[in-house]
Amino acid sequence: MSDAYLKAIATRRTNYAITAKSSVSDEKIHAIVKECVLHSPSPFNTQTSRVVILIGEQHTKLWKLCSEASLKGLEGERKTMVENRLKGFSGAYGSILFFEDQAVIDGSSAKMPMFAKQFPTWSANSTGMLQVAVWTALTLEGLGASLQHNGAFSDEFVANIHKEYSLPTTWVSTAIMPFGDPAAPPAEKTFGSMEERVKLIK
Ligand SMILES: Cc1cc2nc3c(=O)[nH]c(=O)nc-3n(C[C@H](O)[C@H](O)[C@H](O)COP(=O)(O)O)c2cc1C
Repeated sequence: MSDAYLKAIATRRTNYAITAKSSVSDEKIHAIVKECVLHSPSPFNTQTSRVVILIGEQHTKLWKLCSEASLKGLEGERKTMVENRLKGFSGAYGSILFFEDQAVIDGSSAKMPMFAKQFPTWSANSTGMLQVAVWTALTLEGLGASLQHNGAFSDEFVANIHKEYSLPTTWVSTAIMPFGDPAAPPAEKTFGSMEERVKLIK
């Protein structure tokens, strides 16, 4: 019964070789993301996750904002390396932006102070679960994607995202997923020992 699911999660990979095309319609991508948001778990069903899908010009604008903020103060090889990396993301078809609504998390912490310390970790868990659901679903549709954290390195970039797309400031950026039709398969991946990582105890 779990075979199809296990095959699906093995198919999900980081792919940087993505194009500005999508063989999947915008409506289908929207529907997939909504379905993933609907069914992803959250602590006490607090439903803290928020998502924005940017396509076309809006996607290009996002990576322009990222370049403007991230390249400041960089020089030489480091600047060229970051520039090339950002060009790759900008050259994708679209970007999915993941957020967690801090207002909901703060509300839950106030209502359940005994769990207040855990809510930030649980919020990080929730967004990760949603990200992997979306990433896997896009891969099953034949799209390539990767997971980026440029927001973590630049408050200016995040502030400009909120301004440009009129998002509530309580939406905390957790990741950005550029995606598009793949130009090449993902790179080889190595795996550590399962004996060390998983123990069956009975
Ligand atoms: C929490 C988390 C953060 C990550 N952040 C980045 C990132 O900022 N940039 C990036 O290119 N990949 C990022 N990745 C992708 C990992 O590098 C990638 O998943 C890992 O190398 C395994 O490869 P796979 O995705 O093909 O299975 C992240 C993955 C996770 C789970």
